Amino acid sequence: MLVVGLQGSPRKNGNTAYLLDTFLEQGFKRGADIVKVPVAEKNIIPCIGCNSCMKTGQCVIQTDDMFSEMYDLLQNADIIVAATPVFFYGPSAQLKALIDRSQTLWSRKYALKLDDPKAETRKGFLLSAGATSGKQLFDAIRLIARYFFDAAGASYSGDLTFRKVDGPRDLKNLAGHLEEIEKSAAALFK
Ligand SMILES: Cc1cc2nc3c(=O)[nH]c(=O)nc-3n(C[C@H](O)[C@H](O)[C@H](O)COP(=O)(O)O)c2cc1C
Repeated sequence: MLVVGLQGSPRKNGNTAYLLDTFLEQGFKRGADIVKVPVAEKNIIPCIGCNSCMKTGQCVIQTDDMFSEMYDLLQNADIIVAATPVFFYGPSAQLKALIDRSQTLWSRKYALKLDDPKAETRKGFLLSAGATSGKQLFDAIRLIARYFFDAAGASYSGDLTFRKVDGPRDLKNLAGHLEEIEKSAAALFK
């Protein structure tokens, strides 16, 4: 089982990185192969909206890491875990660039109806952390993740979100977070 974890925060040792690491550790313990992608360290050029992928199933941008690594990785994944901090009620721009480039996967699936052998079973899971406590804090991120996972041929298999974490070690110091992570991970990696 290949688990691809997308670390969407530009903060290397912040809450999202810690959350994803701790979550993926549970998959590793259960025998999964883990590939963690520090998205902010990748060169991912934003989608230019040319719609070429609708006809060819390929992105015209062929000089970056999305083209050389990420499309194949996402297609080979059995589970995609997308992790992001809340930035203005959305995902980080770094992760959003990757998501927008997944329009190519959407085109392959819906416009060209190409075969994706793992689509029957592939799962997507969202992790997120934000500083404030608003009721709607994760609404937009959940919706974006839902459409991202769908384009990537993954069924939305849940999310785990944390409010009121801001400083880079806030999540680590939050009472009860490990139990929550272990519970969600156990359900996903079973
Ligand atoms: C550009 C930017 C925008 C942010 N927007 C929000 C926001 O809309 N709501 C919120 O609760 N926190 C917001 N935050 C706070 C982060 O979500 C919070 O610090 C989070 O824990 C950072 O996660 P990280 O340590 O993984 O980078 C923002 C932070 C930054 C840098």
